[in-house]
Amino acid sequence: MHRIAEAYLAARPKSQALWARAQTLLGGGVGHDLRHHTPLPLYISHGRGGRKWDVDGHEYIDFLLGNGALLLGHADPEIGEAVAAALARGTHFGSDHELQMEWAEWVCRLLPCAERVRFVNSGTEATALALRLARAYTGRSKVLRFEGHFHGWHDEVVHGFAPPFEADGSLGVPAKVREQVVMLPDGDLERVASCLASDGEVAGMILEPSGASWGRVPIERAFLAGLRELADRHGVLLIFDEVVTGFRFAPGGAQQFYGVTPDLACLAKVLAGGMPGGAVAGRAEILDLFRFTGDPQHDRHRRVVHLGTFNASPLSAAAGTAALRRIATGEPTARANALAAQLRQRWDQVLEAQGIAGYVYGEASTFHVYFETDRHRVRAAGKRAALVTRDARRLKGMPSELVAQYQQQLRFRGVDVMSSTGGVLSAAHTETDVQQATEAFEAAVKALCEDGLVLCLD
Ligand SMILES: Cc1ncc(COP(=O)(O)O)c(C=O)c1O
Repeated sequence: MHRIAEAYLAARPKSQALWARAQTLLGGGVGHDLRHHTPLPLYISHGRGGRKWDVDGHEYIDFLLGNGALLLGHADPEIGEAVAAALARGTHFGSDHELQMEWAEWVCRLLPCAERVRFVNSGTEATALALRLARAYTGRSKVLRFEGHFHGWHDEVVHGFAPPFEADGSLGVPAKVREQVVMLPDGDLERVASCLASDGEVAGMILEPSGASWGRVPIERAFLAGLRELADRHGVLLIFDEVVTGFRFAPGGAQQFYGVTPDLACLAKVLAGGMPGGAVAGRAEILDLFRFTGDPQHDRHRRVVHLGTFNASPLSAAAGTAALRRIATGEPTARANALAAQLRQRWDQVLEAQGIAGYVYGEASTFHVYFETDRHRVRAAGKRAALVTRDARRLKGMPSELVAQYQQQLRFRGVDVMSSTGGVLSAAHTETDVQQATEAFEAAVKALCEDGLVLCLD
């Protein structure tokens, strides 16, 4: 066992006991694939602001933040009060309620594309519903998506987000499902144009407007604008998966940040203020497909069907409304963005000072770290700036051993990231968090260097 793993385990007896229990209780031992860590998952007891604590009492600066849901940080008092007030009135009614309207009003006020909203329970449900709407609206059967972009775990999109992109995403998905999904590399408008010109069955194009995995693979604004034009030309719906970027990149999401308005947006995470929740928002004409008219023929055969026991749950509506009201001021976004910019600069300086073949990047309140592990590329590059790449296979294809050790080194030093090498910041983080996280990053990277997992420039 790696020496750091021994020390890490020795300091976590309660976590080890929970891990042993989990393996006899939970399918696969964890509740989400990304919670599977080396040498064992994190078991968190509580969080506050930008920090959280595990059951063994270790403190972490948290850049995972509930998988990106907590733009206001852990245990925000206003959100807590709003949820407590809703809780006192009952957890769930299976009926619509007033808070749902308030929640929807904030979504429509903030997001440029949102004329109507339909609430669901997660980002995965949001993308599944958006694809159904696109097919229903256009009467076409196929969906165009892009390599590396993540849209949740349902059958239609579970492939293609991790390299090799052409491989099946999961066991258990009927091969026929993929026949309805066309996948292209992003960034190449000509390929999208020729696909749409030759295939009249494409109903919608879905993508993360930040670029794949909340910007790990950056894309140009011009690509988004080009897709908008192509969508209009071919009568195809443009769907932004704003599950991470919505209310984070800007109060009006990535669509406001980049100034390109989609037909539909998929939302979750920040939308629900740290409670479970999601939504599809977009043009009224499209969301009218849910409408009942009273005509039995129409209502049975000419609508988009959508149900869901916990849709717009009162507790989620309360948390979401409290969060969006604050986010609407612009202040939380500005603060999280400024701290993230500081962190990106400080971490990049660490790589520069140590001569490491890598760089730090990201937009808004996100950060990503790329380590170049191809010796030929490092030798040919000579300097760090020459390593910058937009190649999804490289940016999403860092060796799994490197990523696992990077995460472990950081956790050992009290920093948790979101996925791969990157994370998100909140308005509740502080400059001290950035400073301490930078010290942890510096020590972690030194250790990775000593282990030969990252390379140095000559
Ligand atoms: C861009 C994007 N879309 C969809 C999803 C799926 O959301 P959920 O985990 O709420 O199902 C995620 C989750 O991380 C995401 O990042």
